[in-house]
Amino acid sequence: MDFLELATSRFSERRFADTPVEDEKLRRVLEAGRLAPTAENKQPQRIYVVRGAEGLEKMDAGTRCRFGAPVVLILAYDMTEARHPDVCDFGVVDTSIVATHMMLAAEELGLHTCWVGLIDPSELRRRFDIPKEQRIISVMPLGYPSERSRPAHLHAKRKPLEETVSFLD
Ligand SMILES: Cc1cc2nc3c(=O)[nH]c(=O)nc-3n(C[C@H](O)[C@H](O)[C@H](O)COP(=O)(O)O)c2cc1C
Repeated sequence: MDFLELATSRFSERRFADTPVEDEKLRRVLEAGRLAPTAENKQPQRIYVVRGAEGLEKMDAGTRCRFGAPVVLILAYDMTEARHPDVCDFGVVDTSIVATHMMLAAEELGLHTCWVGLIDPSELRRRFDIPKEQRIISVMPLGYPSERSRPAHLHAKRKPLEETVSFLD
């Protein structure tokens, strides 16, 4: 699929089917994240895959935005490994790039995702025993769309390029 077609077809999924995600597809998604660029190539990202019944129950205590997905990725980074945050928080930037790679790789495989910032990081840390030097930035439900799947109204709202892009001489 042409890249812009792929980017156009992706939307935040909030109605997942409970169909399991094949291991091979999951590995391809994770591999797309592994190949992402990171500041000074530090690769501080730490991705946790949650997919067992017990794990998903713990996940539901840390976010109300799982949307029925059979797999949820916890997106975190090791603060001791990330590039020193002088210009900005590079750990957040790196992990976001990794997550974006995975989001678009998933789309290519017919899997849907949603970026979820509405989380309780302390609850996730406690329940999944995530080390304190790792900062959790979001979670990403992943799976197949259900029959009720459709984009929310915000999906269609994108500012015109003129509002967000300036050409400078
Ligand atoms: C950093 C970030 C945090 C988000 N947090 C949530 C969230 O907590 N819950 C949710 O349902 N959607 C969340 N979203 C999805 C956005 O609402 C969505 O991407 C936006 O409305 C555009 O819609 P689209 O993804 O369908 O194109 C988040 C997206 C981003 C990039």
